[in-house]
Amino acid sequence: MEQLTVNQKNIWGMSADSALKKAVTSWVSIVLVGQWAFAVYILSLYAIPLLIGAVHQADEISPARGFDTSAGFDSIMFFSHILPAAIMASSGLLQIIPKIRKTYPKFHRWNGRVFFALGLSGAVTGLYLTWGAGIRFSDIGALGVTLNGVLILVAIFFAWKTAVKKQFVQHQRWAVHAFILVNGVWTFRLFLMGWYLVNQGQNGNNNNLDGPMDLTISFACYLLPMLFAELIFWAKRSKTENVKWLAAMTTSIAAVITLIGVIAAAMMMWGPRLSMVFSTIF
Ligand code: HEM
Repeated sequence: MEQLTVNQKNIWGMSADSALKKAVTSWVSIVLVGQWAFAVYILSLYAIPLLIGAVHQADEISPARGFDTSAGFDSIMFFSHILPAAIMASSGLLQIIPKIRKTYPKFHRWNGRVFFALGLSGAVTGLYLTWGAGIRFSDIGALGVTLNGVLILVAIFFAWKTAVKKQFVQHQRWAVHAFILVNGVWTFRLFLMGWYLVNQGQNGNNNNLDGPMDLTISFACYLLPMLFAELIFWAKRSKTENVKWLAAMTTSIAAVITLIGVIAAAMMMWGPRLSMVFSTIF
């Protein structure tokens, strides 16, 4: 009987707690690689061409329609939207890594302030570009990212407020959701490219990004990771082994989906554009 209990608690020599920890670490490591690849893409396609005066050449390669230095206020909004994304993609995830948080608390506070300030500005400029400057393929296709923008404001407001009030349990929860929401546009690219890779092309998608699958992905890109995060929080609080195993399994699935997305986005989006930008400009 005792043997049975031990067997129930350990799978492949791992307890539920250590399986969950390993699954979360794997997921975070994959996200880190994908985030840094995105940062390299933004720097190479937008920041460096702007600095060296090669915007015209980069514009030929970039998918962005607002990439233009002659549109006055809209150009300012465009570059204030895109360029800080490289900073957020480079250092945002460091906030979530416990060892960095504990060893460098001052860095955590400053990096957090920078992330929140840039996240708020990214949401506001994004909403402006979509509905003010009219950069959207279709109204219905823009609903997912619009809700994403509004939720960024809400999550950052509460994450910041709870940090100031030193309510760290609530802060951690809001900050993780803020991180997921700020990265909704990154996850959107992962899911879309991953979907294309798995289906070997479009399936329920169209070029206006308002096919049934485009719409599903436009909401799932932040709601699904938020759901996974809640499951992890629940499992960490829970004393039930099965809940922890369930969270470890779903987190492992999330890690695999993210890995497919990072590979697909690197292969189909970031990689080809980077090689074009390097051969044209540098
Ligand atoms: C704070 C989180 C956000 C980040 C980090 C971010 C990042 C980016 C990046 C890197 C691009 C360049 C696209 C590429 O080359 O693939 C972009 C473009 C854009 N984003 Fe965001 N974004 C965020 C939030 C939003 C939100 C909430 C909206 C809308 C409500 C939005 C609307 C846009 C628009 C309209 C463009 C320009 C597309 C074009 O010119 O064709 N973004 N964003």
